[in-house]
Amino acid sequence: MQDLFAVLTPGDEEWQLAQSIDPAKIPAHVAIIMDGNGRWATMRSLPRIAGHRAGIEPVRTVVETCARLGVECLTLYAFSVENWKRPRSEVDTLWRLLRYYLKVELPRLMRNNIRLTVIGRVESLPVAAQEELESAVERTARNTGLRVNLAINYGGRTELVDAVNRILDEARRKGTLQKLSVDEDMISANLYTGGQPDPDLLIRTSGEMRISNFLLWQIAYAELYVTETYWPDFKRIDFLKAVAEYQKRDRRFGGLTNRTSKPAEWMDEPLGVPAP
Ligand code: FPP
Repeated sequence: MQDLFAVLTPGDEEWQLAQSIDPAKIPAHVAIIMDGNGRWATMRSLPRIAGHRAGIEPVRTVVETCARLGVECLTLYAFSVENWKRPRSEVDTLWRLLRYYLKVELPRLMRNNIRLTVIGRVESLPVAAQEELESAVERTARNTGLRVNLAINYGGRTELVDAVNRILDEARRKGTLQKLSVDEDMISANLYTGGQPDPDLLIRTSGEMRISNFLLWQIAYAELYVTETYWPDFKRIDFLKAVAEYQKRDRRFGGLTNRTSKPAEWMDEPLGVPAP
């Protein structure tokens, strides 16, 4: 948190918001559906790709803010398995933008000890994008600070299918297929995010109330935060608002907490149904 205050202006709205954030309750994993680039551009009578270009700055901002706050993992939904349905020219420009981002940002990622990983079926990407990604992943692999997962050619269902196939392949290799029994830990471990904490907070920009096939398994207990703001307009203050709102939520994981009813008193109340 000290790192964050170093770049804030004492007394202003952002600084006050940051003051209200509890450093002991920073989400370990934040996932973001970056949405609204196209609408942002259309509103300005610009081509859609101008929205994607403008979407790079908020990526920089959230990466930096997460690092300064002490978030462990940040997962950004950059390209879904369904996004191939878009016009070829838009898809090609997205790959060019990705390569540009990686080239420009790599020194900054290294300076800030940030590790980059990719989740998704990367093998279907254009070779140049694959090579750039591979190199960035490799060069940041030994960094120990914030981990940024770029979800690229990613689909939550595809990820589950891949996890199941990995489990089956391993059992075949070991000759244990006949007695294979799958549990939740095995599925979690074989997802692209295996070994990482599940997201605590899922942010979606542009007001859409959808999950869009993102991290289907991992967001089982994530707190959802939807803002009307289009991704290119998403600023550090918007991220801090999401974290502050997350900290107000009463996370029960299906159980009860101090803030809710007292189970012992509950049990004494007549149920209003005849005893069996
Ligand atoms: C969603 O907006 C955005 C995308 C599908 C692409 C995300 C890409 C970026 C933010 C650019 C840079 C990112 C990296 C990681 C380099 P949309 O096109 O679905 O917007 P719309 O719903 O308004 O049409």
